[in-house]
Amino acid sequence: MTGTRLALRGPALSLKADPFAAPSRDCLDHIEDALIVIEDGVIAAIGPYAELAPGLSPDISLIDHRTGLIVPGFIDAHVHYPQLQMIGAFGEQLLEWLDTYTFPAEMSFADAAHAERVAGLFLRELLRAGTTTAMVYCTVHPHSVDAFFAESERFNTRMIAGKVLMDRNAPAPLLDTAQRGFDESAALIARWHRRGRQLYCVTPRFAPTSTDAQLDAAGALLREANGLFLQTHLCENPGEVEWVRELFPERASYLDVYAHAGLVGPRSMFGHAVHLHEGDFCTCHQAGAGLAHCPTSNLFLGSGLFRLFEAVDPRRPVKVGLGTDVGGGTSLSQLQSLNEAYKVAALTGHKLDAAQGLYLATLGGARALCLDDRLGRLAPGYEADIVVLDPKATPLLAFRSDYCRSIEELVFVLMTLGDDRAIRTTYVAGAPVYDRDRTGERFRYPTHA
Ligand code: GUN
Ligand code: ZN
Repeated sequence: MTGTRLALRGPALSLKADPFAAPSRDCLDHIEDALIVIEDGVIAAIGPYAELAPGLSPDISLIDHRTGLIVPGFIDAHVHYPQLQMIGAFGEQLLEWLDTYTFPAEMSFADAAHAERVAGLFLRELLRAGTTTAMVYCTVHPHSVDAFFAESERFNTRMIAGKVLMDRNAPAPLLDTAQRGFDESAALIARWHRRGRQLYCVTPRFAPTSTDAQLDAAGALLREANGLFLQTHLCENPGEVEWVRELFPERASYLDVYAHAGLVGPRSMFGHAVHLHEGDFCTCHQAGAGLAHCPTSNLFLGSGLFRLFEAVDPRRPVKVGLGTDVGGGTSLSQLQSLNEAYKVAALTGHKLDAAQGLYLATLGGARALCLDDRLGRLAPGYEADIVVLDPKATPLLAFRSDYCRSIEELVFVLMTLGDDRAIRTTYVAGAPVYDRDRTGERFRYPTHA
């Protein structure tokens, strides 16, 4: 912990319940002029400024964010840090896109210095976008994981990441074997899992690039330590789904391939799930597994429209987080993900409102990752990963936000027009690690007390 003691003043908004299960207005926790007291990286108290200010110790530093909107740090449930160098690659759908752009980019991570450089840029780009927690794919190279966690540890961010496992159907330099993948992952788990705020995620890329033996090894890895996560891709693209049917004819569905290896559990996160059937939604519900909705990627790669409102059907709700899926996705900004999520909802006959959007990017993501006891809310006991949004970040936002008549309208406009420019300050465990308006260096590692 950082030993920080500070207090933030300003309008504060977070979710206290699931707006896909209850009326949105009942789920928002809005304090027009709030005081948030932070001690040792955790929210110690939050309430109306007028009520809390008189009891505030005079030696605490008070930061005035009254022109901003204070929300929980965003959570990205699915992203690939090694793909920054090929974000926005032209012209291909998933399987050709992997061969043409993705695998060559990931091969350049054989160079540890390259991995360190990209990890440094990636963490800064996340913080600049207001994202304080992400579930991250590294590459097959163990040092790509070391580079990522080392930089995350310097920022003290709570990150979830793992070494990609691939033992077939990819270029030879990117392949491990079931045994080597197991051994390298086990060593990384021993080094990084639960070290400070870092959490390890067992990461078979997707069924086509792992043999049964490797998927079984991933299942064995999950039993190695408490609280490990699992991430992979699921039913993203029709050609991919067909390929899995050919590779695993004995399995009832794509999800069943993973279930058979013991990979479907409460800390499992499946990316995309665009072409999922009702039976698979039921399996995810029963297992408590999460799905990552990746709208900018699903649109960019022409993968399809995720049926969010079907996934969260209150009769058998599946936990859903929001993923940028960079470099398939086109932005690290969760505000931009929500902009596209709204359009995907519209195309599937639904309205994604502001409370639902903010939920997906914060508490909903935390729930999908089983971290909602510590992340995703502005409430006492929660880790102080906090973002200050700027409703006047651009001339158009400044003009438009003056016409907003409610907090919901303002948040919706930020979801639609906002991006990294609308992130004024990012706090990690109470430390201001990014400040858009700071002169000189805008990023700062927390200073440990
Ligand atoms: N499926 C397997 N690997 C990937 C990847 O890197 N990105 C996306 N979007 N889908 C995948
Ligand atoms: Zn992905």
